[in-house]
Amino acid sequence: MPRVLVLHGPNLNLLGQREPEIYGDVSLEKINQSLQALAADAELEIEILQSNYEGVLIEAIHQAPGRVDFILINPGALSHYSYALRDALKAVNLPAIEIHLSNIYAREEFRQYSVIAPVVRGQISGLGAESYFLGLEAARRWLQKAQ
Ligand code: DQA
Repeated sequence: MPRVLVLHGPNLNLLGQREPEIYGDVSLEKINQSLQALAADAELEIEILQSNYEGVLIEAIHQAPGRVDFILINPGALSHYSYALRDALKAVNLPAIEIHLSNIYAREEFRQYSVIAPVVRGQISGLGAESYFLGLEAARRWLQKAQ
């Protein structure tokens, strides 16, 4: 079965309580449960990790080749400045999609630029938890074609 790694970056563990007017009132646990259910239906295996530490996310990306076939990543604020995370994604060269709950282009200027975007296949931004679900569907479609 194809395997997808879902990475959630800093502060996403606070979803549900954190600025619900921007990020919605659904907890990360609920989003993860929905992702697990969608993955089971789509015959995908998923592995999910949230970390508030850049290095932990980078290590998970380094260990991904050979273990997973696709990466979905919401890098949180690291999207806007982490060249280290960008370099890790570029180095492993696995297909990846960048996810954002909020529409980063409709927010503060510092959020309107992603250093991650140029090294991933694409980005889904602004659709709340649906951004993750559509990202998983895009991964499924890509993996189906790749087989
Ligand atoms: C976010 C957008 C980032 O700017 C922010 O720092 C986050 C969440 C999103 O999902 O909308 O932590 O990645």
